[in-house]
Amino acid sequence: MVLVAPSLLSADFSKLKDEITALEKAGADMIHLDIMDGHFVDDLTFGPAVVKSLRPHTKLPFDVHLMVDYPEHFILPFKDAGADIITVHAESTVHLDALLAKIKNLGLKAGVALNPATDENVIKYVIDKVDLVLVMSVNPGFGGQTFISSSVDKIARIKKLIKGHKILIEVDGGINPLSGGQCVSAGADVLVAGTAVFKGGEYKKNIESLR
Ligand code: DX5
Ligand code: ZN
Repeated sequence: MVLVAPSLLSADFSKLKDEITALEKAGADMIHLDIMDGHFVDDLTFGPAVVKSLRPHTKLPFDVHLMVDYPEHFILPFKDAGADIITVHAESTVHLDALLAKIKNLGLKAGVALNPATDENVIKYVIDKVDLVLVMSVNPGFGGQTFISSSVDKIARIKKLIKGHKILIEVDGGINPLSGGQCVSAGADVLVAGTAVFKGGEYKKNIESLR
């Protein structure tokens, strides 16, 4: 069964605690936390202090998507804040192997995110240190963008590449029931969605239609 990871980017930031409680009740499988630093991507979101303050309010895994320069500096702070999965962009570091080892050595699940123009073959060289591959189906930086359809074939290629390994494929950006369905058919296990989950405030109905 496909997992749904709502992105808090589309939540009401003035009441994040209520939002994650509502998402858990609505059937979300994990909470996707988009961390932006104003350098790797243009926008700024929130940091470990906010994540830590939310941690006691849900049992759902925290899926932390780091869109930051110098991700090395942020692994420990987000572990301490209660992250379960930390995903780093392959483009954000010249030492991807060492960075993934650092995440794994802290007992967390490690993810690698790939921008739309990044070759998926980078995964080959770190395959034993990866628990999740995050296929960006928009250019990271903000919610509400249009799904890039070449992501579907990329997911299918990654599915082949990781055969025999226990690795999840997650897709993020412009996911709605139509694009999400195409991604799942190609091999995606986890759908991240902001706009499509929060639309009209009907979280349960929206999560169910994505599933
Ligand atoms: C984009 C973020 C996504 C984003 C998805 O940089 O990584 O998680 O919030 O938003 P939608 O579902 O609106 O495209
Ligand atoms: Zn994300």
